[in-house]
Amino acid sequence: MSKIKNIVVLTGAGISAESGIRTFRDTGGLWEDHSIEEVATPQGYADNPELVLGFYNARRAQLSKVEPNAAHIALAKLEAGLMERGGLLTIVTQNVDDLHERGGAKNIIHMHGELLSQWCRVCDRKFKSAEAFTLQSQCPKCESIGKVRPDIVWFGEMPYFMDTIEAHIQNCDLFVSIGTSGAVYPAAGYVQVARGLGKQTLEINLEPSEGSYLFHESRLGKAGEMVPAWVDEILGLL
Ligand code: APR
Ligand code: ZN
Repeated sequence: MSKIKNIVVLTGAGISAESGIRTFRDTGGLWEDHSIEEVATPQGYADNPELVLGFYNARRAQLSKVEPNAAHIALAKLEAGLMERGGLLTIVTQNVDDLHERGGAKNIIHMHGELLSQWCRVCDRKFKSAEAFTLQSQCPKCESIGKVRPDIVWFGEMPYFMDTIEAHIQNCDLFVSIGTSGAVYPAAGYVQVARGLGKQTLEINLEPSEGSYLFHESRLGKAGEMVPAWVDEILGLL
């Protein structure tokens, strides 16, 4: 019986690329068309809420047109396989799409928020909604109008669930990073946390990320091909 029981998988935009969702920093990525300052900062939202709501409405509208790919589905298979043996898979995703959920995984931490979640700035409640945002959007809880923002962590804001994420890394036997450039902290620093705790680390990415040198092992290729093969390898080991 291998000693791998608990695994933390960090995912980034690269795992959703083969589903047709643009990444941020690849050629043709989202940040090539939009200035981060304009659409992914609190100041950008304050300056031009309509532009920001439009940006997220377009990304939300795309969700109904894309499907989870083989990598999302393979992670759900790994989650079930580990659970059967009393282990745990924790998916920590930087992605705000719902493809991990639709791929069948359950234990998912969205550290940068979710496209399908709205956040009322008056009563601070968050609620799931696939509706487009407008400046007249009404909070279903406190009924305030025009005070609902995307539940997305913008640059300069604190990512969600950081304590929980670090606790899962403390308890894991293996830390795996899939489809992220390693450009944004704290996510990019989690491999160092894992290494500092003596955990085994693996990177699966189309090209070496900024933190590739920090991983014990780095596998280059498309997530849709590499992740199912890696999951079969791990489940075969268990
Ligand atoms: N399979 C595997 N990896 C891929 C694939 C693929 N099919 N396609 C692209 N990649 C890799 C790229 O090589 C790149 O390293 O995915 C990574 C995508 O990097 P980014 O576009 O920077 O996306 P990400 O790392 O998720 O960005 C992190 O930055 O802008 C913020 O909040 C945003 O969550 C995002 C964070
Ligand atoms: Zn409210």
